[in-house]
Amino acid sequence: MAVIETRDLWKTYGRIEALKGVSLRVEKGQIYGLLGQNGAGKTTLIKILLGIVRLTHGEASLLGAPAGDVGARRKVGYLPEDHAFPNYHTGYSLMDYYGSLYGVSAAERKKRIPDTLEQVGIAGRMHYKIKTYSKGMKQRLGIAQALMHEPDLIILDEPTDGVDPMGRREIRELMTVLKERGHTIFLNSHLLGEVELICDRVAILQQGKLVREGTIAELTKTKGTFILGLLSGQVFPLEAVAKLGFAVLALPGTTGHFEVTLNEGQTIEPVMKLLSASGLTVTHIVEKKQSLEDVFITLVEGAEPGVDRKRRRARPVGGGE
Ligand SMILES: Nc1ncnc2c1ncn2[C@@H]1O[C@H](COP(=O)(O)OP(=O)(O)OP(=O)(O)O)[C@@H](O)[C@H]1O
Ligand SMILES: [Mg+2]
Repeated sequence: MAVIETRDLWKTYGRIEALKGVSLRVEKGQIYGLLGQNGAGKTTLIKILLGIVRLTHGEASLLGAPAGDVGARRKVGYLPEDHAFPNYHTGYSLMDYYGSLYGVSAAERKKRIPDTLEQVGIAGRMHYKIKTYSKGMKQRLGIAQALMHEPDLIILDEPTDGVDPMGRREIRELMTVLKERGHTIFLNSHLLGEVELICDRVAILQQGKLVREGTIAELTKTKGTFILGLLSGQVFPLEAVAKLGFAVLALPGTTGHFEVTLNEGQTIEPVMKLLSASGLTVTHIVEKKQSLEDVFITLVEGAEPGVDRKRRRARPVGGGE
């Protein structure tokens, strides 16, 4: 059973098409990242899953039940995007309130609140009013609140928003621990480097459509480009390799590294054979990778947040632009 599944999911708000046929599947025990520019539809997808907004058409399910099902919703912890917890609460009393809403017993709450706040690094301030918290502290409290009832699925909308680098690392570590304990985590984030570090799979939304989906390794692989290096002093047979039909170039700024790009259907093997037959020693061979950020930027280049390209082009040019 998938923990989250959507099939051809559409959502329109009046004339705005926020989701245009999104199909994705999140399996148990994964950390799954949903990426996209501002306005791509990430929060909308989460809100549909939780029954906060209704889907326009298509299907969405959460823990095997249709999106919005109350029973399934209770097994989910949720950190909303723009949470504003009532200021009159202390960290402790807020956790106590949410815990009781989720049916955690008073005895359990007493034990679990300090533990959970400790995990997010704010236990020392739990008896202070929320209005005295910094932005990052409020965010940590928001995450703690989402973990309070030991949910099967944790949905986090921008979990590290406003959190400092040390705190972000702590939150990443916490997510890894939660995953090891068998929780499934679904998160929205703009921080691609961070997503790359912890997510098992990612999906990239662009203007309501899913444009990429896969493991980080699948998405960042640059198909068929290898970096080769030879033993110091040996000369790379550029011409001979090019004659075999490979694109090859010397990498500037490196000590004798060469980039060999394969065409459709080619393997690196003929190059390796040629080098070895020429008595050369390969000391370095790696398949080139892109960062998730490279992939993302290439995909969304030129697109404005939530705005169609064709509409951009239709805009008058000149006039100080
Ligand atoms: N209640 C609403 N009424 C009208 N339009 C909405 C509403 N909520 C969202 N939208 C529109 O739907 C689109 C998707 O918004 P959404 O909040 O899902 O984006 P997002 O990917 O979460 O963006 P961000 O990264 O800025 O949080 C946007 O064009 C937004 O303006
Ligand atoms: Mg959002």
